[in-house]
Amino acid sequence: MRVDFAPLDGITKSVFRRTWARFFGGVDRYFIPFFSPTGQHILTPRDRREIERSAQDGLPSVPQVMTCRAEDFLWALGVLADMGYQEANLNLGCPSGTVTAKGKGSGFLARPEDLDRFFDQVFSKAPVAVSVKTRLGYQSPEEFPRLLEIFNRYPIACLTVHPRVRPQKYRGEVHMEAFALAMEKSRNPVCYNGDLKSTADVEALAAQFPKLEAVMIGRGAIADPALPRRLRGGPPASREELRAFTTGLYEAYQEFYGQAEPACQRMKEVWFYLIHLFEDGQRLGGRMRRSRGAAAYEALEAEIFRELPLRRCPEGELF
Ligand SMILES: Cc1cc2nc3c(=O)[nH]c(=O)nc-3n(C[C@H](O)[C@H](O)[C@H](O)COP(=O)(O)O)c2cc1C
Repeated sequence: MRVDFAPLDGITKSVFRRTWARFFGGVDRYFIPFFSPTGQHILTPRDRREIERSAQDGLPSVPQVMTCRAEDFLWALGVLADMGYQEANLNLGCPSGTVTAKGKGSGFLARPEDLDRFFDQVFSKAPVAVSVKTRLGYQSPEEFPRLLEIFNRYPIACLTVHPRVRPQKYRGEVHMEAFALAMEKSRNPVCYNGDLKSTADVEALAAQFPKLEAVMIGRGAIADPALPRRLRGGPPASREELRAFTTGLYEAYQEFYGQAEPACQRMKEVWFYLIHLFEDGQRLGGRMRRSRGAAAYEALEAEIFRELPLRRCPEGELF
């Protein structure tokens, strides 16, 4: 079974992916957080920097596009094909209000007929394989059977399902009965995404769904960066390894931004998840979140490594 690294906008951008891969790795593919094509069909320098092949450092990567206009999606696919990509992913999951108000991300799921027309135009001309990352619906899991019927009409390279609906964002109950329907009825390969944070979680899922093509892991692989490696029988992360990883990542961010302040900000977002791998991490994790300035951040990170025992896998309300 394949293991994909989920895209987390603001966290798993190229600096993170490259550093994480250097220290841990163990995933088959890395999903690049979405970019939204403009109506003028101009790739912004910022988007180009993130998706160009040299930024991937040779890692097998899948760029993700968020749009509800077939002509813009086809334009983006052309750009990605020219860069040498063989697959692009459509974002049908983003729950953010500014996105859904424009009918994009999970907002597109509220208009199944338009989505059907979009796919019809896209799949007749797509120059690369197209995969889809979706939720169960905009408001209710009851929307899913209809959406699945539409997905089944097209040769989607892989249908990644996050079994929640938009108001849940990334919290609360996952609707496994709806995911089971995807496994039963999808004519396209299916990937599961959501809340996987231990090898036991992944093994239980694989046992329940032997036909599963892939799992996609996001927060669990930040909270325990060795999780994908452990799925392949590799060792858990050691304290020294984690320290080398966070030091390397902090340095890479400082180099990227040219200053410590935004680098600290990025590191605090990583620590928001990583702290769960340490016993009684909440107190120091909370202090780190509230801290100001690079010196305070560095002192708190040193204190975590000095004081807190490591767990075997992350615990607590990770999500
Ligand atoms: C901060 C943040 C940013 C995210 N950015 C994206 C994104 O750019 N594209 C996407 O498809 N999903 C995005 N997601 C959703 C994740 O890819 C994933 O579906 C979600 O975290 C659930 O999987 P997990 O429990 O393994 O983390 C984001 C989630 C978070 C928390």
